[in-house]
Amino acid sequence: MKKDINWGELGFAYMPTDYRFVSNYKDGAWDEGALITDPNVVINECAGVLQYAQTCFEGLKAYTTEDGHIVCFRPDLNAQRMEDSAKRLEMPVYPQDKFIEAVKKVVLANEDFVPPYGSGATLYIRPYMYGSNAVIGVKPATEYQFRILVTPVGPYFKGGVRPLTLRISDFDRAAPRGTGHIKGGLNYAMSLHAIVDAHNQGYDENVYLDAGSRTYIEETGGANILFVTKDNKVITPKSDSILPSITRRSLMVVAKEYLGLETEERKIALDEIGDFAECGLCGTAAVISPVGKIVDHGKEICFPAGMEKMGPVTQKLYDTLTGIQMGRIPAPEGWICTIK
Ligand code: PLP
Ligand code: COI
Repeated sequence: MKKDINWGELGFAYMPTDYRFVSNYKDGAWDEGALITDPNVVINECAGVLQYAQTCFEGLKAYTTEDGHIVCFRPDLNAQRMEDSAKRLEMPVYPQDKFIEAVKKVVLANEDFVPPYGSGATLYIRPYMYGSNAVIGVKPATEYQFRILVTPVGPYFKGGVRPLTLRISDFDRAAPRGTGHIKGGLNYAMSLHAIVDAHNQGYDENVYLDAGSRTYIEETGGANILFVTKDNKVITPKSDSILPSITRRSLMVVAKEYLGLETEERKIALDEIGDFAECGLCGTAAVISPVGKIVDHGKEICFPAGMEKMGPVTQKLYDTLTGIQMGRIPAPEGWICTIK
């Protein structure tokens, strides 16, 4: 039986569910892994994750489809990205097939927490891995824990799909040749001060510029960014220091193959964004959230789509992507992983 949760009122917050998946790495090998009920982690005071932030994570969602199945969206790409993150942080790789198997197991075990179709909520799935044994010299841990927690969530940004106001950040997110392209906790730790400050100043998120030249748009703290030009082309920044968003990569396919729009991945200068018609943030948590305005040190860049509702192309992208995820629109081969 579904849990007694007011699905429609959920924000993006943690709620403990009944089970989590845990696997430990020791002596060069992962154990079988198991579903456990304890939401707490007990580790050594000197664990690699606590001292040197040796941790990476993923984010994906489970959806209830129109015909009552439970599915998730392109988990193979999350498994691949977690492998890339682990390698960059000198962590062992959790095998991709086992990653997908564990996602399925933990979602099924928490089936009663998967929000019903049409509720506006989804089950957020958070795989993560961290160095668990003691290290005091700066070096990788030798023992790790891979864990997946799930939690039902609503919209990431308060107010649902109300267009957002962003600011150009004076802080940089990721160095050239640094770690911006992986999903390491370190990239989020550094963003905390910037996001608290942005919120204090009345902005929803920070837009980061490329740290090398501070000329080009990179992404925000928790989502990639895309723009629609006045002639309906969907464009998104090309950069080695942004996270390769699975949502963004999927939306580019949706734009081209489903909506027949031209798409382009290229460097986008801060100087040119005033010419664009629409802007949106895309990610698993953000889905595609419309941006009404970007403020660059007092100069307001207002998108013609306005502050009231999504622009027309953003709306079509949103409807098509969520239609695919919820089973209303046929998906490209391999995009939907049926759990039940
Ligand atoms: N960029 C950052 C910094 C993120 O944290 C996320 C969220 O996962 C994304 C982009 C979007 O990635 P995805 O669409 O794979 O969730
Ligand atoms: C996600 O969209 O899955 C993320 O990890 C973004 C995070 C800021 C919640």
